[in-house]
This record gives sequence, C-alpha cells and structure tokens, in this order.
Amino acid sequence: MEIIKVNSYEEMSQKASEILQKQLLEKQNSVLGLATGSTPIGLYEHLIELNKEGKISFKDVVTFNLDEYVGLERTHNQSYYYFMQEQLFKHVDIKEENIHIPSGVAEDLEAECKRYEEQLKALGPVDLQVLGVGVNGHIGFNEPGTDFSSRTHIVELDQSTREANARFFNNIDEVPTHAITMGIQSIMDSKKILLLAFGESKKDAIERLLSGEVTEDLPVSVLNKHSNVTVIYG
Ligand code: GLP
Repeated sequence: MEIIKVNSYEEMSQKASEILQKQLLEKQNSVLGLATGSTPIGLYEHLIELNKEGKISFKDVVTFNLDEYVGLERTHNQSYYYFMQEQLFKHVDIKEENIHIPSGVAEDLEAECKRYEEQLKALGPVDLQVLGVGVNGHIGFNEPGTDFSSRTHIVELDQSTREANARFFNNIDEVPTHAITMGIQSIMDSKKILLLAFGESKKDAIERLLSGEVTEDLPVSVLNKHSNVTVIYG
C-alpha cells in the first residue's frame, strides 16, 4: 500500500489528478471506477481542467460508478447520476454510452444488480477505482458488516450514513433509505485502487485501515488485502 499524507484538500486533489492523468496517458481506453461524495470533487475539477487543456482525453474512457440511491430519478438533483453529470461528465469529452451508473429506479432492482455486475464483467476489470470512505468506514454504500465476497446489491443505509448525507437534502426524511452499490468483491476486482480521505471525521477509519486491521466491521479495511492501493489522506 502506498500512503501519501497531505496537508490540504487541494494537495490531495492535485496528487490524485496526477495519478489519474498518468493512468489515462498509459492507457487511453482505461476503465475507471468513479465515486461520488464531496471528497472527489476537487479531483474532478482538475480532470476537467486537464481535459480542457488537451492533456487528457476521455473519448475512449469507460466509467463505472460505485453506487446510486434507490428511488431517485436520474434528473433528481441528489441522484448520483446527476452529480456525475454536473461534477465531471458534462464538462469532458466522454461518450454517454461509455458511462455506467446503476439505476435506482429500475422496476426489478435485483435484476438491475445482476445486469450491472454482468456489464462490469464484460467491460472490466476496472483499471483504476477511485474511492472515498464513509465516516463509519463504508466504501461505495457497503455498510459495516457487509460480506467481503459481496457483489452489486441493494443495501439499507445506516442511520449514521443517512444523517451524514442529509446535508445535501432539505431534511433527513428526504434521504433515501436504500441504495444499490457495487459489492466489496466487485470493488476488489479492480486492478488498482485510489482511496481519498480528508478531514477529522475520516481520521478514525483511516487510522484503523493503516493499522493493518482487516474486519468486515470496517469495510474499507478490506483494502489491506489488495495488492495495488494508494491512499491519499489528510
Ligand atoms: C457516500 C458515498 C461514498 C462516499 C462516502 C463519503 O455516502 N456512497 O461513495 O465515499 O459517502 O462521502 P464524502 O466524500 O461526501 O465524505
């Protein structure tokens, strides 16, 4: 595991963008695993800039997002589809057909999980997976206690996760109770993983990860079992 300690959010975003840039220069048709949340926004800003300057291109890039809320249409301003459009996709030269995000409004959600996992298998493996981490150590929406062998599945969100994410909604009652997420094994199948974490609230999860602990009570700790992980934190 490569561990990079930074002093600012900007430094984390800058370093992360260098890793993504290198990946895209080495392999133009990379399959990228992408995350939502406030953590990767700075990284995405750098990628937009690099794309505008002609230093990287997304024209052959394929993306898979980690997760989506159940019940939110793509057009809902808190859906992860909407987030990705606003924070990255609409500003770069990616092709719509190369973007993959699970649908949280599919009639048959179990079938949607299966379909997503099959797409991952067909187009993957993911070359580089960008990850954030929840305050309780979740990755994607894999809450504490999730089986490490899990694949794309439906989860009931922890109350603490709903509270943490309520800041983006008018009130906590509007935060969906369920989500569809890539499983822990689906994430571990990626060739490389880049974990980003910044701030006091993430400190505990990161310290436990860096202690080498591996437990299903702390989903992010599974990264201790992966052979190519970079952690940038501050
Ligand atoms: C969200 C997402 C995760 C994200 C995490 C941290 O609920 N499902 O993919 O990494 O929580 O979010 P943030 O970056 O806003 O702290």
